[in-house]
Amino acid sequence: MLVMIALNAAHGYDEVNQAQKPGYFGWPLFVGGNYAYAKYDFESKTIGAKADANKPMNTSPNNTGKTELPPVSPPFVWYPYAESPDFPLVKTGGRNAMAGPVYYSENFKGKAEAFPDYFDGKLLMYDWMRNWMRLVTMNEKGAIMDIEPFMENIQFNNTIDMAYGPDGKLYTLEYGTKWFAQNMDARLSRIDYNGGNRPPHAELKASKVSGAIPLTVNFSAGESSDPDGDAVTYELEIKGEVQSGATDFNYTFDKPGIYHPKLTATDSKGSKSTTEVTIIAGNEPPVIDVTVSGNPDYFLPGGSVNYKVSVTDKEDGSTTDGKIAAVRVLTTLDFHPQGYDMTKIAQGHQRSELPGKLLIAESDCKSCHLIDQKSAGPSYKEVAKRYSKDVKATDVLSNKIMNGGSGVWGKLLWLRTRS
Ligand code: HEC
Repeated sequence: MLVMIALNAAHGYDEVNQAQKPGYFGWPLFVGGNYAYAKYDFESKTIGAKADANKPMNTSPNNTGKTELPPVSPPFVWYPYAESPDFPLVKTGGRNAMAGPVYYSENFKGKAEAFPDYFDGKLLMYDWMRNWMRLVTMNEKGAIMDIEPFMENIQFNNTIDMAYGPDGKLYTLEYGTKWFAQNMDARLSRIDYNGGNRPPHAELKASKVSGAIPLTVNFSAGESSDPDGDAVTYELEIKGEVQSGATDFNYTFDKPGIYHPKLTATDSKGSKSTTEVTIIAGNEPPVIDVTVSGNPDYFLPGGSVNYKVSVTDKEDGSTTDGKIAAVRVLTTLDFHPQGYDMTKIAQGHQRSELPGKLLIAESDCKSCHLIDQKSAGPSYKEVAKRYSKDVKATDVLSNKIMNGGSGVWGKLLWLRTRS
């Protein structure tokens, strides 16, 4: 047993702790099942004594509080990357233990759609990385009696927060799959308790989401499903017109506009669910072509890659016929080891902004410049007026933006430099 503790102490754990009274929960002297860390002397490279769970001492030179800490409180749930012998249900892999809410039935008396009494006094615990949720049953003393899976068959995309709403339903917030991206699968969801028949899951696919008019789109509800295997009927509503029947529909949009076709799936017991797609009619997206001369698959650092970009647009002409000026084509080169951030790709419509405007929008310029009002820096309209006849302005000003400048616009607050 002692040997196991020593091994355990070497690796990291995530913990959920329960504070019934003020306490010291161990970090950074103890981790997991209060496995003690030892003091390491970086000068002599020697490992000292392990922290004492009954008399933990905070001897850090940065400590401004007590040196002797209260005895360490026991953890509630703890687990490492590897399989946990104590809590096998937590699975393995990247960790990020999260303590969700405890449900109290008495807070939702008279709310017909609230979670049932079964959840009373139970904690929802979840893991941001592992995408599971667990319902923890405790006895009156708060000790764990049972841990069971919760919504095991639903794919959550990194749940980062949750709470019971005033209606006694659960609300979850998902971060989405990728780090530091505006994730398309980030979402706020409401989880309803449904003790009986489960409603169908409506899924609507469109063959096209944008295009010139007349725009004929084929819709399919074929990927919808029903968790109880009930027969499902479908209705598709577009601009108040309802089509019903099998799983496939089509519709021709004759007028430009943004439409939200809505699919309603109804199971044989009358439970319904709906979903929508967005169709943009009246503007065919441009066809963009990038050709790379030489090897298109890889490059050697320091070498140059020659490429040519051409754009053809049904309504607006092309770069070849000169109707789309090169200045309206923004080419960016991104290196994303973790893939592309989908929200940065314009969908279904053209980016009509000029490249400069886009660059400004993505930089920090707006903290000091407004379009037509003076802020910490001059307004862009003023800048444009001053330099409208100066052919060298683009070069000179780009340089100033990168390297800093001052004195041109009178006494202003700051001098800006960029590194
Ligand atoms: C911290 C505040 C601040 C930020 C951020 C900032 N600027 Fe400025 N900018 C100024 C000030 C102050 C001036 C006036 C300097 C002067 O009088 O020469 C100025 C001047 C300019 C000018 C006119 C220069 C000239 O010589 O006439 C341009 C163009 C400009 N900024 C563009 C930008 C752009 C583009 C960005 C974003 C990449 C940006 N600025 C970000 C404060 C800022």
